[in-house]
Amino acid sequence: SVDDMVLLASNRGPVSFTAADDGGLTLRRGGGGLVSGLSGIAAESTPDFPGVLWICAALSEGDRSAVRLAPGGRVDRIGYDTGPLRMLDIPPATFHRAYNAIANSTLWFVHHLLYDTANSPRFDLRFRREWESYRAYNEAFAAALAEEAGPGARVMVQDYHLTLVPEMLRKSRPDLRIAHFSHTPWAPPDYFSLLPGDVGAEVLAGVLGADRAGFLCDRWAAAFMDCCEALLGAAVDRGSRTVTHGGRTTRIGVHPLGVDGRELWSRASEPDVEAQLSALKERVGDRQVIVRIDRTELSKNIVRGLMAYREFLAEHPEWHGKVVHLAFAYPSRHDLPEYREYTAAVQRCAQEIEDEFGTPDWDPLVLNVHDDYARSLAAFRLADVLLVNPIRDGMNLVAKEGPVLSARAALVLSREAGAAAELGGDAILVNPYDVSATAAALHEALVMPESERAERADRLRAAATALPPRSWFADQLGAL
Ligand code: G6P
Repeated sequence: SVDDMVLLASNRGPVSFTAADDGGLTLRRGGGGLVSGLSGIAAESTPDFPGVLWICAALSEGDRSAVRLAPGGRVDRIGYDTGPLRMLDIPPATFHRAYNAIANSTLWFVHHLLYDTANSPRFDLRFRREWESYRAYNEAFAAALAEEAGPGARVMVQDYHLTLVPEMLRKSRPDLRIAHFSHTPWAPPDYFSLLPGDVGAEVLAGVLGADRAGFLCDRWAAAFMDCCEALLGAAVDRGSRTVTHGGRTTRIGVHPLGVDGRELWSRASEPDVEAQLSALKERVGDRQVIVRIDRTELSKNIVRGLMAYREFLAEHPEWHGKVVHLAFAYPSRHDLPEYREYTAAVQRCAQEIEDEFGTPDWDPLVLNVHDDYARSLAAFRLADVLLVNPIRDGMNLVAKEGPVLSARAALVLSREAGAAAELGGDAILVNPYDVSATAAALHEALVMPESERAERADRLRAAATALPPRSWFADQLGAL
């Protein structure tokens, strides 16, 4: 029925295609929190759960060929098991400016406080052209949604790539019920207003085009409301969490996405993970294992994490030979020079640790820079300590996946991750800029009595699975 219609829109879809030499297409699971949370939901349709049509962008040349083969861009119709999925083939130059220049180099940087403000950002003529492309890219999504949506359908727009869609879509289809959800932090007004005033206002008004705007924790919701008040002069009611602007009221929701423990365990018990687990066990022996798993992402603070491990080793020679750090840093956003440089910095720092402390029979650090999902699940299962130290993070699902897969891991967690709101009581919280405090936290985690680690891990697991993706999504649909 009309009530059951749900459309989901995000830049990255659940899969991406790579064109093989023989012209065939292979598909790969997408990475990152948004896809981890939503993929399970979109692939299923049961009597009490409506089917979802997922609209995403073609990200690669492989995706573009998949779109050309697919009737109506519905790539599931050429025989891929993705759930109903329509990929938009946006002109490459427009896509590049919208995704790399605006979404990832501007909005992502603003929300994660990543600017080195002595040099960047510079809002000039070139930026204005990039902004035009971001608009055009948002318009392409709004047009596709308007075309696909049945009367009164519910539309779930995701993340900072698509902030203008709710307002655009409301103009062409006032019958729709529209939600926007931010998987990132939201910047406080002082930082958000680094953006040119009209651009910042356009982003806020774009999101306010939705009936509901969702965030991962109170802190980001509050920052959004602060920005609406400071930059738009909107009427904000913090008690009832509403923002009224231009005669319309948007409800602000807080939905702390968690993980589905059973689903994750079943994936992590498959043969490919078991094989990786045996290999890793052989490699680390009976040493304690510190694990981190991230995209190689500026906000994940990998370099300071490695520096903290180095400082820990320098301060605690009694641990030499008895601990191994497994660091997974997957390739991400390599079109951006900052990310390429950051990857090199991570590799340099890892090499320095190897040079300084490694011996013929002890590798203090194993750095993985290639995508390997099975291997990272195996690492979770082996972890005694999990290090999650982002500068700032919407939620951080790694902090929630770890406790599900290791019943004995202590969690060292940045106080700036959204996950700290729920996990803070049983994690060891750190200021992510404080390398020495992070080193001390690693030590504290390693010497924590096993019984205490296990008790905390139990509670962490309960908190991590409190709102699995299915309920997270259903709550939002219900509210809409
Ligand atoms: C974060 C964002 C997602 C994004 C993911 C991976 O989790 O909130 O929207 O998909 O990072 O980044 P990428 O640029 O590879 O899609």
